[in-house]
Amino acid sequence: MKKTTTIVLLLLAVASLSAQSKKPVYLDSTKPIELRVKNVLSLMTLKEKVGQLNLETFVNENDTKNDLSDKIKKGDVGSILKSNGVKNNLRLQKVAVEQTRLGIPLMFEEDVIHGYRTIFPSPLGESASWNLDNIEKSASIAAKEASASGIHLTYAPMVDISYDPRWGRILEGAGEDPYYASFVAAARVKGFQGTNLASGQNVMACVKHFAGYGAALAGRDYNIADFSERTLREIYLPPFRAAINAGVGSVMTAYSAYDGVPATANKKLLIDILRRELGFDKMLITDWATINNLVKIGIASDEKEAVLMAINSGVDVDMTSGLYLKHLEALIAEGKINIKSIDKAVERVLIAKFKLGLFDDPYKFFNEQREKETLLSPDHLEFARKSARECMVLLKNDNKILPLNKSIKKIAVIGPLANRQKDLLSWWGGNYSQGKPDEVISVLEGLKKSVNSYVEINYAEGVKLDGFDPKGLELIPEAVKLASESDLVILVVGEEYWMSGEGGSISNINLPGIQDELVNAIANTGKPIVSVLVNGRPFDIQNLTNKSMAVLEAWQPGTMGGLGVADILLGKYNPSGKLTVSFPINTGQIPIYYNYKRTSHDATGEALKNRWVNKYLDIPTTPLFPFGYGLSYTTFVYSNLILSKQIITEKDELVIDVDVTNTGKIFGEEVVQLYIGDIVSSVSRPLKELKGFRKIGLDPNEKKVVSFIVKKDDLSFYNQNMKWVAEPGKFNIMVGASSEDIRLNGSVELK
Ligand code: GLC
Repeated sequence: MKKTTTIVLLLLAVASLSAQSKKPVYLDSTKPIELRVKNVLSLMTLKEKVGQLNLETFVNENDTKNDLSDKIKKGDVGSILKSNGVKNNLRLQKVAVEQTRLGIPLMFEEDVIHGYRTIFPSPLGESASWNLDNIEKSASIAAKEASASGIHLTYAPMVDISYDPRWGRILEGAGEDPYYASFVAAARVKGFQGTNLASGQNVMACVKHFAGYGAALAGRDYNIADFSERTLREIYLPPFRAAINAGVGSVMTAYSAYDGVPATANKKLLIDILRRELGFDKMLITDWATINNLVKIGIASDEKEAVLMAINSGVDVDMTSGLYLKHLEALIAEGKINIKSIDKAVERVLIAKFKLGLFDDPYKFFNEQREKETLLSPDHLEFARKSARECMVLLKNDNKILPLNKSIKKIAVIGPLANRQKDLLSWWGGNYSQGKPDEVISVLEGLKKSVNSYVEINYAEGVKLDGFDPKGLELIPEAVKLASESDLVILVVGEEYWMSGEGGSISNINLPGIQDELVNAIANTGKPIVSVLVNGRPFDIQNLTNKSMAVLEAWQPGTMGGLGVADILLGKYNPSGKLTVSFPINTGQIPIYYNYKRTSHDATGEALKNRWVNKYLDIPTTPLFPFGYGLSYTTFVYSNLILSKQIITEKDELVIDVDVTNTGKIFGEEVVQLYIGDIVSSVSRPLKELKGFRKIGLDPNEKKVVSFIVKKDDLSFYNQNMKWVAEPGKFNIMVGASSEDIRLNGSVELK
C-alpha cells in the first residue's frame, strides 16, 4: 500500500512540475515577480502594452449601459474604476483572463475614502480622534469590505493640506498640520494595504493628489494653485513622503499645477522630486482626464503633445482621457517616444497586479459569500460607532450641561439635519461609496434608541435645508412652540452632504440657508440649547456658539453617526476629539492656521492696541476655535515639565517629560501636544510647530508621565538653499492641550 502511495505522489509531483513547466513563466507562481514581469513583457505586443496603461471608467456618463467587454477583449483596458460588486467584476475579469491572448487580469479601482459599505467619519472628522489605531483600523475594515466586493485599489488616502474651508475637499484630508497629517497618511496606507497585498483582504492604496492641490486659489476647486518651493516642501510634501515610506502602492497626480506647470506634465514634481528625491518607483496614475486637461490649459498644443508630456514625466496610467490608447502607438512609430518609457510604465502596472496576486488567482477577490458576510458586519458597525464618537469634538459646555442629566425629561430635537441620513455620509460616502443612506442612524434615531424610557423626545425640522436659499421659514413657529414645551433643545445644524467634497466650494462659511435664523428663534425661548454640528468643513459658528450652552462638532459621522452623538450627549462616552483644523471666526479670516510665521508687526500683548500691527480693525486675528482644541467632561492638569538636557548637539536626543493628571471625577482621554518654536533662524519659521502628540486615558486622580523624544530632524528646516538643516540656537518648548492652550514652557539650545 505504502509503495503505491509513494508512486502516486511521485506521479502527481511530476505532473504538476510538467504542468508548471508548460505554463509560461509569468503564470508560474514559484518564480520571482521580476522574472514574471520580464517574461510577460517580452510576450506582449505594443498594442497590449498600451492597453495596460489605459484606465477606463465603468460609469460612462454618455452611455449608462457602458459595458467594457469588447474593449477588454481587444486588450485595450488595463484597469477599471467605478465598477463594483463581485457579480459584475467577476464577469469582466473573466473576459480579460479567458478571452484575451495573454490573460492579463484587470485591476478594479474605486474611491474608498472613508469606508466602503460601512461608512466611517469623513477623513477630516476622523483625524480629530488623534487615534492612529482607530484610523488604521477603519481603513483596514474599508479594505476588507472593498476587497470582498471585487475592488483591488482605492484612491486614498487624500493627503492635501488646506487652510481654506471654502474648498469643499478640505473634508478629505487630515487637517492643516503636515506633521500630524503625515502620521495619519501612514496609518491609512497601512490600514488599506495591510502586510500582504495578495491576501485578498487588503487593497492597494493610492496617495493623492500630488501635489499642492489644497492651495486652490480662493478655495475654488480646480482653480490654479500658486505656492513656493518652500511651501511645497514644508507643507505639501511631508504627508506624501510618509505615505511613500509606509509603502503606498501608487500615487495620483493633481489637477493643479506647481510653479505654473500642471502636475501631470511636471518633470520637476514627478521625476526630480517624486521619483528621485522621494524614491517612489511604483505606479503613478493621473487624476480624471488630466492628460487631456493639458490641452485645455494650453500647455499642450494638441492631444499627442499632451501624451508626450505625460509619458515623459513618468505618468504610467491614463485615467479616463483615452489619449494614451489613442496616441502612444503612433508616437512610438514616429520615433517620438522610446519604447523603454512604455515598458517602464507597463512594468509598474504589472508589478502592482503581481503584488495583488491577480496573476496567481485572478478570481480571489470575487466571492459572493464573503461579500455577503463582510459588508456591514456587526463588528464593522460597532467599530463605526466607536470611531464616530471618538472623533467628535466638544467645543463648548457651559455649566457642564453635558452630559445630559437625569432631570431632563422632555427633549426637543430640532433642526434640518436632525432626521437626515445621507448627510451623515459626506460627498464621497453618500455619492461614491456603497454606503446606503437608509442604513445610517440619524441623530434623532440615535437619541431615541439611547435615552432612558422616561425621557420624551419630540422632533421639529425648524427650517428646510435644501440648498443655499432661504427655505422653510414657516416651520420656525412650530419648532419654537416645541422648544417652549421642552426642558432642553438639541439643535442639529450644518451642511448637506453635497455642499462639500469634490466641486463643493462655497464663497462664505456661514451656515447655509436660514439655520442661523432658527438658532436665534430657538434661543429667544430661553430654553437651554445643545447644538450638534453635522458638516464636512469648518463653518462660521459664532452665532450658534454664542446662543448655545454646548456645541458638539460631530462632523459627517457615518453609518453609526447618530449613536455616536447619543453616546456623547448621554455620557456613555466622554468626548476626546480635538480639532485638526482651525475654525475661523468668519470667512474674512481665511486662510487661518496655527503654525503662522512671526512678522515684524505681530498683534500680540500691548501691541494689540496699536493700529499699526498685523490685525483686523473689526475682529481678532485668532480663530474661533484653534488647532488642537477640544473639551472633555473632565479636567486635566499639566505639571513638572522636565527636559533631559538644556543644551544639545545634533547627535543628541532630547527627552521631554510632563505629568498629566485627571483632576475630574470620570475617566477621560487627553491629547497632549508638544510644540517647538525656532527663535532665530536664517529663514522665517512658524512661532510654533507640532512636533509630538500623545492620546492618553486617565482615571479620576490618575497621573501619567508623558514623554516625547526630540531629535535633530524635529529642529530642522529648509535653509535658503533648500538644504534640510538644523541651525544652532535656542528653541521654545511648549506643551499644552491645544495650539492656543500652552500649559508649560521650556527651552533648549542646540549647539
Ligand atoms: C476625481 C478626484 C479624485 C478621484 C478620481 C476618481 O476627479 O479628483 O480624487 O479619486 O476623480 O474618481
